[in-house]
Order: sequence, then structure tokens, then C-alpha cells
Amino acid sequence: MTDLQKRDFENLLTKKIDNFFSENNWNVNNYASNQLKERKDLGQFFTPSVLCAKMLAKLTKVKEAYLDEEGNVKGENPKITDEPLFDPTAGCGNLLAAGIAIGWDPEWIYANELDPKIYEVLVDGLTKLSVPKDHIRCGDIFKMTKEHFKRMDEQKPICGILPDEISKEDYEKLNESEKKLYFTICDNRTGKPTDKYKKKGVKNKKSNKSFSLNKKN
Ligand SMILES: C[S@@+](CC[C@H](N)C(=O)[O-])C[C@H]1O[C@@H](n2cnc3c(N)ncnc32)[C@H](O)[C@@H]1O
Repeated sequence: MTDLQKRDFENLLTKKIDNFFSENNWNVNNYASNQLKERKDLGQFFTPSVLCAKMLAKLTKVKEAYLDEEGNVKGENPKITDEPLFDPTAGCGNLLAAGIAIGWDPEWIYANELDPKIYEVLVDGLTKLSVPKDHIRCGDIFKMTKEHFKRMDEQKPICGILPDEISKEDYEKLNESEKKLYFTICDNRTGKPTDKYKKKGVKNKKSNKSFSLNKKN
């Protein structure tokens, strides 16, 4: 992809985001009146929409939908469907709304958020964008089971698990020296280990205190 093609593509995404958010009166920084201390405790700092769109273009099949094999824009209004887009810590839904703005089918959008006050904002925003309410869950991501999202169970979620994390099941398959590369993830409210492991050397976000890392081995 040439620099010019890249710029055209980014300009197109920015234009789509600007149009969509002004039409839909979306409030990117709706923190449900939470105070800074509470926001710091739960890492409540939301991602600007244009950045969300750029992240999605890097991580998902957005490029495929917009660009031909040579990197030229093949259509300005593709519909992105048949693939779930799930944000496990969705906040007020900026990432998911940006997905819809650039063409994601709302029927394939899923969300989870821990804070009930932010969850209300999330439900209000996403249902206005036609995301089914039963796709939007309030709870701790580390306690989420597959039953919560039956449809996602059959499909591979795109943004469901951080790339540097693995499940207990996958951890058990590693040999002893590989296991040493991982920490156990603990829930900081209970202090108990969850069923996930995180790769050492991958920095934990300071702002997100929803989990902490305990050394294993
Ligand atoms: C940094 S914000 C990200 C919001 C959104 N993904 C974005 O990019 O704008 C993180 C959100 O995760 C929520 N959160 C923190 N710990 C969580 C947990 N264990 N389970 C689910 N949500 C959690 C916080 O309340 C906050 O709204």
C-alpha cells in the first residue's frame, strides 16, 4: 500500500466517523458523572472515535472490506458482517460505535462493561444504533462464560481476548519453560487467581486496576 493510498483510506475513515457521530449525537466522553478517582480505579478513559476506527482497520477485516488487492478504495460503504466484534471492557461504547460508523452490522456487535452506571450509558448509546440489548452485558469480564454470548460461542470473537493472554486450558498445554513466561492474572477485588495467564514483559496498563499480576513459579 502506498503512502497516498494509506492517506486516502485514513481520510475516508475519518470522514465516515465525523459524519456518523455528528448525525448520531454521540458523546465520546460520557463518564456518567463518575469522579476522577473512580474513573482512575477502573481505567475509565475512553478512546477517541477516529483512533478506534484506525485500530479496527489494523486488527480486523475492515481493510479487506474497503480496499482491493492493489490497496485502492473499492467502495465507500461496505457492510461488514458475519463476524462478531466484541469489546470486553466497552466503556460507553466508542470502539463499537466506531465499528458501526465504518460499516459493521449492529447485529454482530457485542459488549461487556463492569460499572453499572457506565453500562446504562452503553446500553442507551448502542441500542440507539440498533445493537440488540441482549448483546450488551454488565459484569466482570473475568467472570464471563461462553453462555453469556451464545452466538459468539459459535464464532471466533475478534477482540475478545488480549493477544498476550491465554486461558488456563492453553496454559496447561505449555511445557515447563514456556509456563515460566506467564503470570497468573488475579481479580483485584477478590485477590483470587482467574483462569487466565498473561505474558511476562507485557506491561500492564497502570490505569486499569481491574486486575493485577501475581508472579507464578
Ligand atoms: C479504558 S476504558 C475502555 C473503554 C472502551 N473500550 C474505549 O476504548 O473507549 C475501560 C473500561 O473497562 C471497564 N472495566 C474495568 N475493569 C473491568 C472488568 N474487570 N470487566 C469489565 N469491564 C471492566 C471500566 O469501567 C471502563 O469503562
